[in-house]
Amino acid sequence: MAKQRVEFRCDECGASTPRWSGRCPACDAWNTMAEAPVLSLARSIPATVGFEPATPIAEVELDAVRAMPTGISELDRVLGGGFVPGSVTLIGGEPGVGKSTLLTQVAASMAFAGVDVLYVSAEESRQQVRLRAGRLGALAPKLWLASETELGQVLAHLDRLQPSLVVIDSIQTVHDPVLGSAPGSTVQVRECAHRLVREAKQRDLAVVLVGHVTKDGGLAGPRVLEHVVDTVLCFDGDRHHALRLLRAAKHRFGSTAELGLFEMTDAGLEPVPDASALFLADRRPGVAGSAVVAALDGDRPLLVELQALVATTKLPMPRRTAQGVDGGRLAFLLAVLERRASLALTGSDVFALAVGGVRVIEPGADLALALAVASSFSDTPIPPDLVACAEVGLGGELRQVGQTPRRLAEAARLGFGSALLPHSAPDPPPGLRALRAGTVADALDLAGLVGPGS
Ligand code: TYD
Ligand code: MG
Repeated sequence: MAKQRVEFRCDECGASTPRWSGRCPACDAWNTMAEAPVLSLARSIPATVGFEPATPIAEVELDAVRAMPTGISELDRVLGGGFVPGSVTLIGGEPGVGKSTLLTQVAASMAFAGVDVLYVSAEESRQQVRLRAGRLGALAPKLWLASETELGQVLAHLDRLQPSLVVIDSIQTVHDPVLGSAPGSTVQVRECAHRLVREAKQRDLAVVLVGHVTKDGGLAGPRVLEHVVDTVLCFDGDRHHALRLLRAAKHRFGSTAELGLFEMTDAGLEPVPDASALFLADRRPGVAGSAVVAALDGDRPLLVELQALVATTKLPMPRRTAQGVDGGRLAFLLAVLERRASLALTGSDVFALAVGGVRVIEPGADLALALAVASSFSDTPIPPDLVACAEVGLGGELRQVGQTPRRLAEAARLGFGSALLPHSAPDPPPGLRALRAGTVADALDLAGLVGPGS
């Protein structure tokens, strides 16, 4: 038998050299070159799936994308219908955010609808997954479970079961022993993902990969993982809140502007179809320091309460704390309020937050944040049925923000009575009265707070 040829491959970037070296010649990482067998060409070239001649572009048949609905409304919203057979979806999120919970629910929902689903748990034992599934009411007869970390075994399960959907939890724990390097290394993750993408296309199978994220929020493993898959979903949320947000960072079959919202409960993830109502549920009207912004996340309008507390301090450096709102934006607005609306904020601590575990960092929240600060400063509540929507400029001028009509429609739906807007903004829908201001000082006046020049 011919001796297996070996080379040295970098665990970080996958570059290979015929001779060992302490430092990778491609990415300069130290001590990452490890001996690995040379991959034969037959492994890395996809099996030819039949030659298809090139066609004039106008004659390409528009085979409508046949998405399989997942039955989980907020996920279907983000995916624009469901999982597409032959496609690969990567879902990333921090540990504990609820990826396995979501996918167990998705797998069960589809299995109950008659789809054969294989859930490959490469991190948890079958008992652990079974326990969770039991609690989630996910014991569907067509949901198959395998606890497997070796790629070859996963493929064998696919051969035997012929499912229409396979969930791999997670791609970092699946490995192919032939590659030599450790499970979770860049080479392993990349090669296993490549192989699964090929299998998805050949078998017309929808594949969902769970991906871990690193401390700085990026997906662990090579960037190439994001390039080879068709869809990248990001699942995140504040650890101390039940709210979870699902967004598409890349989607070959539709828009990336949709936002899916869930609430983590004892019975798993519950879709939140009416997010604005949820964010405003515990609001106490008539309290100073609170203002509602008609914000937008992707294409989804969200009404969020912003709160501010202005408190005099003896500290030489007053504290400015922002939670769920942009800290830089807060500092900027405080300076504008000080200079353009004569609010003496220099000797005060200012705390600002967005209620409900949501992040509102768009400029469209400027006016509401300024109103909340001014309201707390003057200890005067803002009318509870007032919603604000404008960007504030350095000169204190108000500017219109994108998609104002969508934002105002959401405010009208929730029963708000008036909207504080810049002059250029379109008219609000019936039921909502426009209060128009040119500057932040005029806006404070209209909201019944400190007037211009005060
Ligand atoms: P999990 O899906 O294991 O997260 P990931 O796979 O992203 O690491 O979710 C873990 C958290 O979710 C854990 O802290 C417990 C919580 N959880 C609930 O609150 N309710 C539930 O019904 C389930 C299954 C989990
Ligand atoms: Mg998990």
